[in-house]
Amino acid sequence: MIILGLETSCDETAAAIVQKTESGVRILSNVVASSATLQAKYGGVIPEQAAREQIKSIIPVIEESLQASGYRHEDIDAIAVTNGPGLIGSLLVGVETAKVLATVWQKPLIPVNHLMGHFYANWIGEQTPAFPCLGLLVSGGHTDLVFFEDHGKYEYLGGTRDDAAGECFDKCARLLNLPYPGGPEISKLAVHGDASKVNLPRPMIDSRDFDFSFSGLKTAVANLLKETRPNSADLAASIEQAIVDVLVTKTIKAAQKYKVKQIMVAGGVAANQKLTSELKLKITHPSSRGKNLKLEINLHIPPPTLCTDNAAMIATAAIFNYQPINPLTIQANPNLSLTNPS
Ligand code: KG4
Ligand code: ZN
Repeated sequence: MIILGLETSCDETAAAIVQKTESGVRILSNVVASSATLQAKYGGVIPEQAAREQIKSIIPVIEESLQASGYRHEDIDAIAVTNGPGLIGSLLVGVETAKVLATVWQKPLIPVNHLMGHFYANWIGEQTPAFPCLGLLVSGGHTDLVFFEDHGKYEYLGGTRDDAAGECFDKCARLLNLPYPGGPEISKLAVHGDASKVNLPRPMIDSRDFDFSFSGLKTAVANLLKETRPNSADLAASIEQAIVDVLVTKTIKAAQKYKVKQIMVAGGVAANQKLTSELKLKITHPSSRGKNLKLEINLHIPPPTLCTDNAAMIATAAIFNYQPINPLTIQANPNLSLTNPS
């Protein structure tokens, strides 16, 4: 089966052709045009501008993805498109384009929840996660913990009550006068810093639920900068460490409670090396009590290019949750979530 995926939920215009074979999902082409450099000028995404860029890019990106795959549109079995959550103007560009193509080319059309799409970046390639598994989604708009029993069968465990982890990275980066997107910038700076030199809170790290809260951390950074002038590399290291500590602690707690042998991480922040190395350390190293306690949990993380927004993950989600609907009934819905999935 060959699927054309389209993703336009925010400031990336993406199209990909993926193929399901007996050995797994293979990417035939994966094209991403980003207006991030344009958005960087303003320190964040301006919705109207992002939508205008989507309109300019969508057709060239689809043409390029077909050309790079070596296939023609006649060879495509179905089209998958992100229908939410995201920015309404951006989403509409992908959804309306997909409706037209599906109608004119007479292909089945599958709507995909962007958040599910992120998890499905883990199903690209030959090595994929095993069920039951715990999913941690950490992106610019979401921080969610989900227990998966099977494809399409999951339980939402908790999520952020305010800012997402990526949003916290971005907002703190702005306070440090670093460009957008801030996550990779904080990470680069943090390599030269000492986290122990700047004390920051770890919001909700000990709460009994699986919810998160990151807005207090950003406020703590803002207040700190009003009072003192810490070394910016130390501050970046401390911000990164605080976010990673909360994410790792809650993820491990959920993995233990739900007795999973498999964790998968998804979303832009999954590209963070500190997060992935600390998760690895926790599941394969002795506990802090000195006992040789191996949790023996497998960790699956997509390669960094598949962690951030792309259309290969959208097409892959459609392969494993193949539910085409009448193209004319598909609606862009900016408010979709994992508890309100379609
Ligand atoms: O998943 P994504 O590409 O878009 C959304 O759906 O939100 O995630 C973007 C987020 C941004 O907040 C960005 O700062 C963050 O992912 N990010 C990172 C890293 N790379 C991207 N955060 C921390 N470390 C990174 N290496
Ligand atoms: Zn995303």
